[in-house]
Amino acid sequence: MIELSVCVGSSCHLKGSYNVIQTFQQLIEEYKLHDKISFKAGFCMKSCDREGVAVSFCGEKYSVKPEDARVFFKNTIAKGCEGFHDK
Ligand code: FES
Repeated sequence: MIELSVCVGSSCHLKGSYNVIQTFQQLIEEYKLHDKISFKAGFCMKSCDREGVAVSFCGEKYSVKPEDARVFFKNTIAKGCEGFHDK
Protein backbone atom coordinates (compact mmCIF):
# COMPACT_ATOMS: atom_id res chain seq x y z
CA MET A 1 0.00 0.00 0.00
CA ILE A 2 1.14 3.51 -0.75
CA GLU A 3 0.78 5.95 2.09
CA LEU A 4 -0.95 9.21 1.26
CA SER A 5 -1.85 11.71 3.91
CA VAL A 6 -3.18 15.24 3.96
CA CYS A 7 -2.48 17.53 6.87
CA VAL A 8 -5.53 18.66 8.80
CA GLY A 9 -3.61 20.76 11.29
CA SER A 10 -5.05 24.22 11.91
CA SER A 11 -2.88 26.08 9.40
CA CYS A 12 -3.53 23.61 6.56
CA HIS A 13 -7.18 23.41 7.51
CA LEU A 14 -7.42 27.14 6.83
CA LYS A 15 -5.66 26.69 3.49
CA GLY A 16 -8.31 24.20 2.38
CA SER A 17 -7.17 20.73 3.41
CA TYR A 18 -10.81 19.63 3.42
CA ASN A 19 -11.07 20.43 -0.30
CA VAL A 20 -7.80 18.63 -1.05
CA ILE A 21 -9.11 15.56 0.80
CA GLN A 22 -12.39 15.66 -1.14
CA THR A 23 -10.58 15.91 -4.47
CA PHE A 24 -8.16 13.08 -3.64
CA GLN A 25 -11.00 10.86 -2.43
CA GLN A 26 -12.92 11.43 -5.61
CA LEU A 27 -9.87 10.73 -7.78
CA ILE A 28 -8.90 7.61 -5.86
CA GLU A 29 -12.34 6.27 -6.78
CA GLU A 30 -12.06 7.48 -10.36
CA TYR A 31 -8.65 5.88 -10.85
CA LYS A 32 -9.74 2.78 -8.87
CA LEU A 33 -6.78 3.09 -6.55
CA HIS A 34 -8.49 2.37 -3.23
CA ASP A 35 -6.77 -0.99 -2.89
CA LYS A 36 -3.37 0.54 -3.65
CA ILE A 37 -3.43 3.76 -1.66
CA SER A 38 -3.83 4.03 2.07
CA PHE A 39 -5.32 7.49 2.48
CA LYS A 40 -5.59 9.29 5.78
CA ALA A 41 -5.62 12.66 7.41
CA GLY A 42 -2.47 13.60 9.29
CA PHE A 43 -1.43 16.09 11.90
CA CYS A 44 0.87 19.05 11.43
CA MET A 45 3.79 18.10 9.17
CA LYS A 46 5.82 21.16 10.11
CA SER A 47 5.31 22.75 6.71
CA CYS A 48 2.84 25.39 7.89
CA ASP A 49 4.93 28.17 6.37
CA ARG A 50 4.48 26.80 2.85
CA GLU A 51 1.82 28.12 0.54
CA GLY A 52 -0.36 25.06 0.14
CA VAL A 53 -1.68 22.22 2.22
CA ALA A 54 0.95 19.75 3.42
CA VAL A 55 0.64 16.36 1.73
CA SER A 56 2.79 13.33 2.37
CA PHE A 57 3.07 10.74 -0.39
CA CYS A 58 5.54 7.86 -0.58
CA GLY A 59 7.47 9.42 2.28
CA GLU A 60 7.93 12.74 0.43
CA LYS A 61 6.40 15.98 1.57
CA TYR A 62 4.56 18.25 -0.87
CA SER A 63 2.65 21.49 -0.65
CA VAL A 64 -0.61 21.43 -2.61
CA LYS A 65 -3.11 24.22 -3.11
CA PRO A 66 -6.73 23.07 -3.28
CA GLU A 67 -7.11 24.38 -6.83
CA ASP A 68 -4.06 22.35 -7.91
CA ALA A 69 -5.08 19.13 -6.16
CA ARG A 70 -6.48 17.49 -9.28
CA VAL A 71 -3.36 18.19 -11.37
CA PHE A 72 -1.11 17.10 -8.51
CA PHE A 73 -3.00 13.83 -8.25
CA LYS A 74 -2.69 13.15 -11.97
CA ASN A 75 0.98 14.10 -12.18
CA THR A 76 2.23 12.58 -8.98
CA ILE A 77 -0.11 10.26 -7.13
CA ALA A 78 -1.59 8.44 -10.12
CA LYS A 79 1.93 7.59 -11.26
CA GLY A 80 2.66 5.82 -7.98
CA CYS A 81 5.87 5.53 -6.02
CA GLU A 82 9.18 4.60 -7.51
CA GLY A 83 9.28 0.82 -7.56
CA PHE A 84 5.68 0.58 -6.39
CA HIS A 85 4.50 -1.44 -9.36
CA ASP A 86 6.98 -4.21 -8.51
CA LYS A 87 5.53 -4.77 -5.05
S1 FES B 1 -0.70 22.55 9.97
FE1 FES B 1 -0.21 21.47 8.17
S2 FES B 1 1.93 21.49 8.15
FE2 FES B 1 1.43 22.45 9.98
